[in-house]
Amino acid sequence: MASLSFLAVFLVHICLFASFSSAEDPNIYHEFEVSYITASPLGVPQQVIAINGNFPGPTINVTTNNNVIVNVRNKLDENLLITWAGIQQRRSSWQDGVPGTNCPIPPKWNWTYNFQVKDQIGSFFYFPSLNLQRASGGFGGFIINNRAIIPIPFATPDGDITILIGDWYTRNHTALRKALDAGKDLGIPDGVLINGKGPYQYNNTLVPDGIDYATFEVKPGKTYRLRVHNVGVSTTLNFRIQNHNLLLAESEGSYTVQQNYTSLDIHVGQSFSFLVTMDQNASSDYYVVASARFVNETHWKKVTGVAILHYTNSKGKAAGPLPEAPNDEFDKTYSMNQARSIRWNVSASGARPNPQGSFRYGSINVTDVYVLKNKPPVVINGRRRTTLSGISFVNPSTPIRLADWKKLKGVYKLDFPTRPLTGAPRLETSVINGTFRGFIEIILQNNDTKMQSYHVDGYAFFVVGMDYGDWTENSRGTYNKWDGIARSTVQVYPGAWTAILISLDNVGVWNIRAENLDSWYLGQETYIRVVNPEATNKTELPAPDNALFCGALSKLQKPEDISSATSIIINESKLFFTLLMIICTLIPIFY
Ligand SMILES: *[C@@H]1O[C@H](CO)[C@@H](O)[C@H](O)[C@H]1NC(C)=O
Ligand SMILES: *[C@@H]1O[C@H](CO)[C@@H](O)[C@H](O)[C@H]1NC(C)=O
Ligand SMILES: *[C@@H]1O[C@H](CO)[C@@H](O)[C@H](O)[C@H]1NC(C)=O
Ligand SMILES: *[C@@H]1O[C@H](CO)[C@@H](O)[C@H](O)[C@H]1NC(C)=O
Ligand SMILES: *[C@@H]1O[C@H](CO)[C@@H](O)[C@H](O)[C@H]1NC(C)=O
Ligand SMILES: *[C@@H]1O[C@H](CO)[C@@H](O)[C@H](O)[C@H]1NC(C)=O
Ligand SMILES: *[C@@H]1O[C@H](CO)[C@@H](O)[C@H](O)[C@H]1NC(C)=O
Ligand SMILES: *[C@@H]1O[C@H](CO)[C@@H](O)[C@H](O)[C@H]1NC(C)=O
Ligand SMILES: *[C@@H]1O[C@H](CO)[C@@H](O)[C@H](O)[C@H]1NC(C)=O
Ligand SMILES: *[C@@H]1O[C@H](CO)[C@@H](O)[C@H](O)[C@H]1NC(C)=O
Ligand SMILES: *[C@@H]1O[C@H](CO)[C@@H](O)[C@H](O)[C@H]1NC(C)=O
Ligand SMILES: *[C@@H]1O[C@H](CO)[C@@H](O)[C@H](O)[C@H]1NC(C)=O
Repeated sequence: MASLSFLAVFLVHICLFASFSSAEDPNIYHEFEVSYITASPLGVPQQVIAINGNFPGPTINVTTNNNVIVNVRNKLDENLLITWAGIQQRRSSWQDGVPGTNCPIPPKWNWTYNFQVKDQIGSFFYFPSLNLQRASGGFGGFIINNRAIIPIPFATPDGDITILIGDWYTRNHTALRKALDAGKDLGIPDGVLINGKGPYQYNNTLVPDGIDYATFEVKPGKTYRLRVHNVGVSTTLNFRIQNHNLLLAESEGSYTVQQNYTSLDIHVGQSFSFLVTMDQNASSDYYVVASARFVNETHWKKVTGVAILHYTNSKGKAAGPLPEAPNDEFDKTYSMNQARSIRWNVSASGARPNPQGSFRYGSINVTDVYVLKNKPPVVINGRRRTTLSGISFVNPSTPIRLADWKKLKGVYKLDFPTRPLTGAPRLETSVINGTFRGFIEIILQNNDTKMQSYHVDGYAFFVVGMDYGDWTENSRGTYNKWDGIARSTVQVYPGAWTAILISLDNVGVWNIRAENLDSWYLGQETYIRVVNPEATNKTELPAPDNALFCGALSKLQKPEDISSATSIIINESKLFFTLLMIICTLIPIFY
């Protein structure tokens, strides 16, 4: 009897735990078979990375607090990890899909991601994080809808359209990698793709015959939510639609103050939602344009993506010149002022019913300050590398989070400098020592002549300021302490700085990286390690049962675990929760 009541108490514990965790929120399942297919988006056949045979991959469409379960089958000839950019992976960097936290999925293997999109809403995308693979595809949109009970700060749109824009090379990622390994630049991209397709033939000198282009069909008078993501390699793109205003409404999980733009600069890795009303007379179709920015247009004319906005009552094809890009060659503040105009709607609800601005970031004291300085590429030990604060990051063969778990020493150093190193740049696995529940200020200083954007995993950060020149303590006087946007990817203009604030409440090891693939590949990244000094499982989930082992821990990996385990786990977990629900309803009977 004693043992039975012990069992009952134990089960009550499990049931309580289950109800506090994610079990009652719906599970959304996806199977991702990642493979090469042949496509000719710019008229030249090439191998692109497809998901379930599609390029780009499917859009994941879920609701706040859903559990997302994605079984990834690697049919490539190289290692794979999928990362969910901007999804915060609360308490579980195990699911983040970057090499500092997760072992790669080897070719022919399965691995099942399982994470909850806790307290999140907005527009994001996923992509393969290793080895420049994103330059060959493998990306797709990721939507998190508000729960029905939480109002969105605009009328429900009549349609929802995901638009993936990005610069594109006809060389595949292995060829691009070879160029970087040989110390070369990637050179000018061959074009810009919109949803995996090349440009509409708006000019037959610039666009050859027979290119397949994207068409967005819309109904007159309706308002659509366009979710636009720059999934490209390294080019900032100016996005615009002929004759239509873009009403900015959301960016990477935050509702913005709603403002009209005729065009917006979207930097590599960034996501925006626009509300676009089809208020034109449909005398023709309209151009949707994504063109290269901050480059010499004489050489970059071909680096322009053109798709078609087609009203169902359209009277003809789009014709004539494209709508003009901003004419700001001699005004370097134009784009920055536009960026500063993107603000948080502090009175709108976010994922929860309370206003987004109820977290008053401007009145929280900063605990740590880091200046991360980007410089032009340098040669270290005979190889061309990029640096942040004088350090070119080397990914350890054993992921940092895994090494911590198994108490393996010497994998990395917790010594990332708070100020840029002044000596010779060096190769290191140097990580930021984050203070759990601290409030960190990071200044990104771009000392290069190229635009960069930076991404932080695990968090949304507040963009509080940006300006040209070197950041100084006095720069804090210009900070926006009230309605700076909370997002996960921010641009840093050449010769300028951007300041961000992060509340370090998410335990784990999180990647901070250049989103430009070439800069990232050559070493411009680090991690921030956030550990709760108190031993508890409440602030971080334990390692998942299917955690892969590699590097110094590869002997812990059981090969037979992989072959068929992952697909069964899904069904078993369903069965397990069903059993659990039955047991939980029976428990009151025992008492
Ligand atoms: C990438 O391109 C190179 C030629 O540049 C080719 O040899 C290689 O097979 C291609 N790789 C894939 C995966 O398509
Ligand atoms: C901000 O959100 C509120 C609440 O949903 C909404 O009423 C208001 O129109 C929004 N303001 C702007 C400027 O977007
Ligand atoms: C996403 O799913 C919701 C239902 O949960 C549906 O209303 C909405 O249209 C879907 N959005 C897209 C873009 O498919
Ligand atoms: C097409 O582009 C070429 C090269 O930029 C330009 O010289 C030509 O005027 C354009 N043609 C038309 C019809 O706009
Ligand atoms: C944005 O532009 C549309 C016309 O395209 C107009 O109806 C709307 O009032 C504008 N909204 C704002 C907030 O300026
Ligand atoms: C439709 O709009 C265009 C551009 O605003 C204008 O030139 C044209 O005359 C309009 N056509 C009709 C039939 O109203
Ligand atoms: C762009 O390139 C052309 C040709 O190389 C050159 O003449 C021109 O000065 C360049 N423009 C700028 C703004 O650098
Ligand atoms: C911030 O620091 C100031 C002075 O160092 C202190 O007076 C204030 O109480 C602190 N604020 C918070 C919210 O901790
Ligand atoms: C990391 O920071 C914590 C305080 O947050 C400190 O106790 C610890 O000594 C630091 N570790 C290293 C290696 O500097
Ligand atoms: C790089 O930094 C140095 C020293 O602060 C400064 O003189 C130079 O103008 C900077 N260059 C750029 C492009 O930011
Ligand atoms: C956390 O969970 C793990 C595995 O579920 C368990 O081994 C460990 O004892 C737990 N730690 C604490 C402090 O509860
Ligand atoms: C991967 O998972 C699928 C089911 O989702 C299964 O059919 C297949 O056998 C698995 N393959 C490997 C190599 O794990």
